[in-house]
Amino acid sequence: MADSNVYPPGPDFVRGAHVKGMEGYRELYRRAAENPEEFWGALAEQELFWFKKWHHVFEWNPPDVKWFAGGQTNVCYNCVDRHLDTARKNKVAILWEGEPGDQRQISYQELHRLVSRFANVLKGRGLKTGDRAVIYMGMVPELPVALLACARLGIIHSVVFGGFSAEALKARIQDLEAQVVITCDGAWRRGKEVPLKSAVDEALIECPAVRDVIVLRRTGGAVEMREGRDHWWHELDEGASENCPAEPLDSEQPLYVLYTSGTTGKPKGIVHTTAGYLLQCVMTMKWVFDLREEDTYWCTADIGWVTGHSYIVYGPLAAGATAVMYEGAPDFPQPDRFWRLIEKYRVSIFYTSPTAIRSFIRQGDQWPNGHDMSSLRLLGSVGEPINPAAWEWYYKTIGKERCPIVDTWWQTETGAILIAPMPGAVPLKPGSASLPLPGILPEVVDLSGKTRETGQEGYLVIRRPWPSMARTLWRDPERYRSQYWERIHGSYMTGDAARMDQDGYFWILGRVDDVMNVSGHRLSTMEVESALVRHPAVAEAAVVGKPHEITGQAVACFVTLKKGSWDRPKLAEELRKWVAHEIGGFAKPEQIRFADALPKTRSGKIMRRLLREIVTANTVTGDVTTLEDLSVVTQLSSQADED
Ligand code: WTA
Repeated sequence: MADSNVYPPGPDFVRGAHVKGMEGYRELYRRAAENPEEFWGALAEQELFWFKKWHHVFEWNPPDVKWFAGGQTNVCYNCVDRHLDTARKNKVAILWEGEPGDQRQISYQELHRLVSRFANVLKGRGLKTGDRAVIYMGMVPELPVALLACARLGIIHSVVFGGFSAEALKARIQDLEAQVVITCDGAWRRGKEVPLKSAVDEALIECPAVRDVIVLRRTGGAVEMREGRDHWWHELDEGASENCPAEPLDSEQPLYVLYTSGTTGKPKGIVHTTAGYLLQCVMTMKWVFDLREEDTYWCTADIGWVTGHSYIVYGPLAAGATAVMYEGAPDFPQPDRFWRLIEKYRVSIFYTSPTAIRSFIRQGDQWPNGHDMSSLRLLGSVGEPINPAAWEWYYKTIGKERCPIVDTWWQTETGAILIAPMPGAVPLKPGSASLPLPGILPEVVDLSGKTRETGQEGYLVIRRPWPSMARTLWRDPERYRSQYWERIHGSYMTGDAARMDQDGYFWILGRVDDVMNVSGHRLSTMEVESALVRHPAVAEAAVVGKPHEITGQAVACFVTLKKGSWDRPKLAEELRKWVAHEIGGFAKPEQIRFADALPKTRSGKIMRRLLREIVTANTVTGDVTTLEDLSVVTQLSSQADED
């Protein structure tokens, strides 16, 4: 195991940190492990507002778990109302910049008005606790407003990333039987309008349960409004009352469903609930981002993914932060847009993805070097393993060797960060997400659940439930049980391979299931395969992740064709577009290879391991991940396949 450089926290950082030094970390970790009930109970009392106190901190009967049962709270109240009788009332909550350069600064007080009004709009459409709203918008301030308004009333929201196609949107609306869709005319991306409303129109042809569509005007592009069903946001909002008290909701009331890719063609609706979710979002803002009152915090994710839910909306607002939100592309109009924003808003905490970092490296140091980024004090990374070379560049070129980097490991299912360094305590090792946070008991095991020895690769599991964990899959509790809790009995199976080193640091190696990670976006091989076989020319398809220097992985497809004469190069291009149409642009395959037959086992299973080896062997991977790591993942995944 190649141990790289170690970076202990600087004395200045430690002095002001929420958790100081390794003793501070160890003490918290010990308390949480020894007496979780007391530990989480005290935090819930201290950090959240409650309408009614709970009677049990947790009830655990895996996979069923309840946190703070019997209690009543409201996520929106905690994110907004609670700050209004404090010094934060006129503090900027959302510091927004549109891609064309327009700006908005929304204080907590103003946010309260916007959210209350929109909650009244939703009420006015007859929506109530337990109903479902699908939200398909660009990164505009009304997006968090819509989420919070739903949370205020207990309407379960499901945000669909604007990069998903009408087909993917339709599948999600149908699965949820949503009553309302909230959208925009379009969104700005690299100076062009991405049409959103027209995709909604296409999706809704087969979604009879949707009664209302609320459309925010953002780009001013032409849209068709269907009489009786479609309403302009600004028209409904006009005259809506600003008085809309937050509903007291049970701790376990579902807050949102977020679809993510699993190992089948059908995305999973991950269900997150109220109190435990919010508590862990708030705690990680302090433990991992070391948030202080005066920070200007920026997470560059899209709210369409879990990172945006927990670390643009719920975590930062519940913690009373000033959060920057940016609408558009990082390289528009020039590759320095992010650095420009950091300089302009004096951003102090910056959280982005390894894919973004690798593309910044490629664009050249002149772009960040042209800006004063001395306001930065902490950097973060999420979504995929960060290779040591990218880590070192981020540390030196962006952080000027002053800012710790928190490499945060978590998943849509975990709700909040589970493994990451506390920056004032834990020495950093580039490429490792380091140590588990308090209350989190990860282990690396073999398929029988036995702990692997230090330094050995295996499956990453979490031994004990935590407050922000997914409670179930939407209308599919059986799949939840079998996928996450039964493969290693009684433990949560993450689907990642990892190893733990002699210092207890976790090194995440990648997925062991049929899930790819493209630019930090989760994508199932099966989803792409089912999209391909829906095309009339395709007989069979097998899809694997191929190492890619910038995006971590790229989509590689092996396709056999139905009888006929095909113009293969033309068809390959058509299939790439087809996948983008069926799923979304980010899923577009990099490679389509035609084959006469796919390699299969005697029982007819496609031998993905072989295909993975084929696409890996003829790629020079730079240092994205070492070949040794990849072969381990390939090996572990083939074992998991056979299981
Ligand atoms: C991967 C994103 C290494 C991992 C928050 C996980 C990471 C999947 C890291 C979840 C990290 C996320 N280091 N790998 N710091 N963070 N991953 O659900 O494979 O979109 O299982 O959640 O991303 O992706 P998801």
